Amino acid sequence: MRVPVEIEARAKALRAEIGHHNYRYYVLDDPEVADSDYDRLLKELQGLEQQYPELITADSPTQRVGGAPVAEFGEVRHAVPMLSLENAFTAEDLTAFDSRVRDRLESAAAIEYYAEPKLDGLAINLRYVDGLLVQAATRGDGTTGEDVTHNVRTLHSIPLQLAAGAPRILDVRGEVFMPLKGFKAMNARALDRGEKIFANPRNAAAGSLRQLDPRITASRPLDMFCYGWGAVEGWTLPERHSDVIAQLLEWGLKVSPEARAVSGVEECLQYYAAVGARRASLPYEIDGVVYKVNRLGYQRELGFVSRAPRWAIAHKFPAHEETTIVRDVEFQVGRTGALTPVARLEPVTVGGVTVSNATLHNMDELERKDVRIGDRVIVRRAGDVIPEIVKVIVERRPGDARAVRLPNHCPVCGSVVERVEGEAVARCTGGLVCAAQRKESLLHFASRRAMDIEGLGSKLVDQLVDLDLVKSLADLYGLEVSQWAKLERMADKSARNVIQALERSKATTLARFLFALGIRDVGEATAGSLAQYFGQLDRIMAASPLEIQQVPDVGPVVAAHVHSFFADSRNRDVVAALRARGIHWAEQEPKAAPAAGLVTGKTFVITGTLVAMSRDEARDLIVALGGKVSGSVSKKTSFVVVGVDPGSKAQKAAELGVAVLDEAAFLDLLKQR
Ligand code: IVH
Repeated sequence: MRVPVEIEARAKALRAEIGHHNYRYYVLDDPEVADSDYDRLLKELQGLEQQYPELITADSPTQRVGGAPVAEFGEVRHAVPMLSLENAFTAEDLTAFDSRVRDRLESAAAIEYYAEPKLDGLAINLRYVDGLLVQAATRGDGTTGEDVTHNVRTLHSIPLQLAAGAPRILDVRGEVFMPLKGFKAMNARALDRGEKIFANPRNAAAGSLRQLDPRITASRPLDMFCYGWGAVEGWTLPERHSDVIAQLLEWGLKVSPEARAVSGVEECLQYYAAVGARRASLPYEIDGVVYKVNRLGYQRELGFVSRAPRWAIAHKFPAHEETTIVRDVEFQVGRTGALTPVARLEPVTVGGVTVSNATLHNMDELERKDVRIGDRVIVRRAGDVIPEIVKVIVERRPGDARAVRLPNHCPVCGSVVERVEGEAVARCTGGLVCAAQRKESLLHFASRRAMDIEGLGSKLVDQLVDLDLVKSLADLYGLEVSQWAKLERMADKSARNVIQALERSKATTLARFLFALGIRDVGEATAGSLAQYFGQLDRIMAASPLEIQQVPDVGPVVAAHVHSFFADSRNRDVVAALRARGIHWAEQEPKAAPAAGLVTGKTFVITGTLVAMSRDEARDLIVALGGKVSGSVSKKTSFVVVGVDPGSKAQKAAELGVAVLDEAAFLDLLKQR
């Protein structure tokens, strides 16, 4: 089929427009249009390309995800070696560096440096030929790296095509990293699923780029800042390093917004202090700042020593990691009874703060890291992340190191501790009998986004529980002024204030109430969805797990937690008591049951690994929506869902002419139901 000229022109215009919006969104962080507008453009282009596959170009924005997995990483020899940097740890180190630079250049005047944060990720070389991204490689040993083109193409902040005027050959260098928010979310998900977590964002970034399957990389939140270049052909370099960086930005590459030119050691140190002060609030990890002599003529004159340039130096911040000794491991009990092992450490200063406790997350993590009492360990504290034990220095394990055992009984209430087969988390079975769980539940119940009981903080909650004044949530509403006033740091006036706050909290919404109950895995969003879907609490309490799964974004696990919470008569009593105390909300008519959708009555076969969910989760979703899942493909099969590394079933589907869905299309179908 020949492509009509007007269609070809439209596709080209769409590619340019989407490319522009990508740049505004991912590189400049300053979008011009709403996400929905962007999605519409992309959909239109996808539609055209589906109709006329000849339209697909290597730089099309539709080509970022879903490339085929590779069997192994190819080797790439760098046209210009990728060097490393010399380190400075003190102001004296830096002054010595600056003197060496000035001596060599025979310059008495202050040197202009280009200063920027030193990102903690991994160095990548991007090769652009006539503006088109043709290859991406890791640094490797500096001479030869690994070909990671298929993965790097999935990073939205890396342009597949540079803006007009790009040279014939341009090797751009920079750091690929994982922003902290994405890193924390990814680890939280992994913990939930009992999977291995990454020790730090650097490892997470490296692990994500070293994937044979680009779809996995695409699902990881990676970003890149460009800070240099290698081979360049067809462009005469400008005078300054900063001019090159400005030009890279013009061509569409992302560069650090923190970078700037400074003059002499004094200003370098000021820059170091200013960036250091903001280190904890930056959205990514940095381990220092880098200063580069700004004049390229000077850079050439200075040249290199062995593997590092004489014109640049990394000025490191205090390390995020230190070693210390594990004195003991204790277990803390959380709101849902989860026992978290916490290491008590020989106090050590990490990044300027004294650390004496570190979380070990759960028993699986503790066992995986094999932390024993007496061990010498590496602890890590970064930004607002809770200090963690990265690893044990096994070589230095003392002979009398003691293994940690999960207690059989809750350290707070003495109830039996249960660890469900296959689950990472051990829990105290005491429920609200357990003072630790009661305290956490009360705090959660009172929190701003739940019942919003002003003034009811941990000081009061501790006393209420320790004095046995509050055994169940509803007891909160029954205390007299005199009982409140007797508590430490309370007087008549403050007692009345709390009571008033309690009164105010009684008029609430179903969503807030559900969230406040602290049902496992029911956060604000899920509570909102449940409230909206069912409209009335009694309907939720009577719903089967399958009915609960009909709620948008609620999977089988959450549905099971909601169901078993309300199946427990103790919880039903708490709800009844709260209602009897006058807690109320406006109930709504339930939303009409969804019309029989695209899944109802259809038979699915799933083959290969899915990225967004396990096969079991996919099966449960299909069943919840009224579909069936079968193990083998036949003419009766409606859809074959193909994940990563599919088996022969994908081929069978093609032979029988059964519709094949990739994961993205499958997820779309579920949304449309
Ligand atoms: S310049 C010839 N600038 O640090 C100069 N490197 O310790 C080579 N890095 O391999 C590097 N942020 O992975 C430079 N703003 C920055 C950097 C940076 C992070 C990394 C890079 C390099 C390592 C050297």
